[in-house]
Amino acid sequence: MTTSSRLTTIPVQPVASDLWDGLVLEDRVHRRVYTDESIFAREMNNIFAATWVYVAHESEVSEPNDFKQTWLGTREVVVTRDEEGAIHVFSNRCSHRGASVCREQRGNFEFTCPYHGWRFDNHGQLFGIPGKNAYGPTFKARDMHLARPAQVASYKGFVFATLNPDAPPLAEHLGNAARYLDDWIDHNGGAGNLILSGAQRFRLACNWKLVWDNAGDGYHVPFSHQSLLLMTNARYGGGDMAYFADADRSTMTNSALDNGHSVIDQRPEMHGESAWRQQRPQPGREPFEKHVAATYGEQSSRVLDTTVGAGMNLNIFPNLALIGNQVQMIQPTAAGATVVHWYATRRKDVHSEVNTMRLRTQEDFPVMGEMDDAANFEECHRGLLNSPEDEWVDMSRHYETGKDVEAEDGIVRGPVTTDLHMRNYYAQWKRLMQANPTLRVEKGRLV
Ligand code: FES
Ligand SMILES: [Fe+2]
Repeated sequence: MTTSSRLTTIPVQPVASDLWDGLVLEDRVHRRVYTDESIFAREMNNIFAATWVYVAHESEVSEPNDFKQTWLGTREVVVTRDEEGAIHVFSNRCSHRGASVCREQRGNFEFTCPYHGWRFDNHGQLFGIPGKNAYGPTFKARDMHLARPAQVASYKGFVFATLNPDAPPLAEHLGNAARYLDDWIDHNGGAGNLILSGAQRFRLACNWKLVWDNAGDGYHVPFSHQSLLLMTNARYGGGDMAYFADADRSTMTNSALDNGHSVIDQRPEMHGESAWRQQRPQPGREPFEKHVAATYGEQSSRVLDTTVGAGMNLNIFPNLALIGNQVQMIQPTAAGATVVHWYATRRKDVHSEVNTMRLRTQEDFPVMGEMDDAANFEECHRGLLNSPEDEWVDMSRHYETGKDVEAEDGIVRGPVTTDLHMRNYYAQWKRLMQANPTLRVEKGRLV
């Protein structure tokens, strides 16, 4: 490690690059990638510090001095807004002895470390040390501000950070995923209109990549979620039944996007006529529909459509997934432990009844559907952990059928049931794990 007065550079240990070639093949992945703690430890540097990681939505820190506790993988960080409206990200590790300075999920105040009372402002800068006279002339308080990651940037309200000063600009990292992110934001009323509400949080006994494998998986739906889909279909008709007919031939697609991102686009099937009509029903649907018709007149079908999802599962590698009208953040905590945060979203420009109905979409996913998925993630992890003689995880669906093809826009798309999304993100995973990035934090004074 090299340390100037302000900058700390963290070396990432080089390892033989052919190690990764032996673990990630084109159509399969070795189980160790999911279960090995040393691989997980490298992921926390090479992926969750060396590439852009989603940390917050700007609406979560809308006022001066607002803060949100969040994570860059296992690194705890805090996101704040200052009096000028600027967003800051800094480490939650006290510069004195390492205690967490911020112990609330969200709030509005400066930080006093609960251990010895050191005080930090909304830039993460140290401004108060109890009994400061006890420190001698070599003690440099000016270099003991909370560590800031090398880069922080926002895209239309979504805040990302990285410790890698050489990471490409955020827009370049998002690449062709940005056009889908734009679609999702437009469906929700445009940038600046979206508010992230509270989150449902699930603590899962599985590797974080099992969540990621599933994020673009259109193959599991009629099997894993059979009871949910059959029940709603029997009672009300419609819903996600397109998956049952013959999902391999459905007009829904799975696309490989730049830098490991991917998208399942359900709009051709589910938004063909009206997203609202094809949504699984929520309680209170009929009176709500009448209320919207009376309140919004000609705009009512547009308003009804905004209560349901954007018709896509957009996955921004490594930790952000937009599902329906919800924002999912994946937080790895160990090789076999992951926390998944599902944030509901509201719109500023609609009546509260519309936002209530948006929140009620959570009653199928994640409330019921995520349970199906979570059970399978944990079952997979146990199988991978406890049967080492079975070494491989398969990702060969549509690998050899010729159905993953490059479209006119340059994006490779396949059937919604393809494993293209896994092959795509694992190629990026391998690139990142083979690299020897420079990671850097800044501890000097900002203002
Ligand atoms: S560890 Fe924070 S003040 Fe001592
Ligand atoms: Fe699922």
